[in-house]
Amino acid sequence: MAEITLAQVSKRFGPVQAVTDLSLTIANGEFVVLLGPTGAGKTTSLRLVAGLETPDDGRVFIGGVDVTGLPPAARDVTFVFQQYSLYPHLSVFDNLAFPLRSPTRRTPEDEIRRAVGEVARLLRIEDKLQNRATQLSGGQMQRVAIGRALVRRPAVYLMDEPLSSLDAKLRSELRIELKHIQQDLGATMLYVTHDQTEAMTLATRIGVINRGRLVQIGTPRSIYEDPADIYVATRLGSPGINLLPRALFPTLEAPAAAATIGVRTEHLAIAKGQNGAVTGKVDWIERLGDQNHLHIDVNRQQIVSLVDPDEGLGVGDEVAVSLHKPLFFAADGQRVR
Ligand SMILES: Nc1ncnc2c1ncn2[C@@H]1O[C@H](COP(=O)(O)OP(=O)(O)OP(=O)(O)O)[C@@H](O)[C@H]1O
Ligand SMILES: [Mg+2]
Repeated sequence: MAEITLAQVSKRFGPVQAVTDLSLTIANGEFVVLLGPTGAGKTTSLRLVAGLETPDDGRVFIGGVDVTGLPPAARDVTFVFQQYSLYPHLSVFDNLAFPLRSPTRRTPEDEIRRAVGEVARLLRIEDKLQNRATQLSGGQMQRVAIGRALVRRPAVYLMDEPLSSLDAKLRSELRIELKHIQQDLGATMLYVTHDQTEAMTLATRIGVINRGRLVQIGTPRSIYEDPADIYVATRLGSPGINLLPRALFPTLEAPAAAATIGVRTEHLAIAKGQNGAVTGKVDWIERLGDQNHLHIDVNRQQIVSLVDPDEGLGVGDEVAVSLHKPLFFAADGQRVR
């Protein structure tokens, strides 16, 4: 059993409340991603689980055991740090073997060679095993840091933005690899990132955090489709959700408290010409190859929509705009249904 539970955990650094009343359970074998902007408290949350920070309030449990007072070494966790640190004087092989060579573990050398070889293959750094850690690119160093966490089989894996310094192609490949590895191992994973694509593709559940508080937790789909407030709605989606004054669509049926309409780019229907609905003018077209982002001006409000490149729309065209699946938010940003 490797369930992680944070129970009403808070952590303050001087005047900064880094984590506030965080309660969260990551089930055995679950992949939970904490998503939040810089300074939200992501690294601090991981460090609290690892035992690198002690909470001011609350308890931390791993596998049902209260580990709040235990040092990191007594918790069966591995940590991929945001600022990955390798042993510069050691080769890549020895960096990867390091966690297996601890005196208490006494892993046989042929078992170490097998485990290191397997991880190096997964992360595509086999040809670098004899290099010193200093003779690697940033992306290769990051992969060695991930590999060091994967060579042994801890109860819990903690990962702090492990893919951030990789190029887009390698990042998307490693995303898939990480998900496979986690599923194959049945590993319990707590992973933090500010990258919404990573959160959407990796997570069993996404926890959205803002200023040290967990705002919402749920499956990627529920977070995307059913956000609790404007903040959560804007964390996912690229281009981001359109937030429009309710008055812009006067004939749209909406709850009385609705002040803002949220509509995702894919939920806008755009038709050339006027058809009695709300009308706007094409302002700008971003051509991305497989799709176009259409920027439309409706009463001096910018709306962004996705359109097929073959749509045949041009700047200055008049278009009718209608909404599917609009979300409504009250003046304080909370969702109204
Ligand atoms: N050791 C520390 N001393 C003082 N303040 C700290 C310390 N560690 C973190 N903080 C503060 O706590 C807040 C949360 O920091 P944290 O590192 O958890 O954010 P983060 O979500 O990981 O951000 P990033 O995406 O930039 O890595 C920040 O305001 C940060 O400045
Ligand atoms: Mg961080």
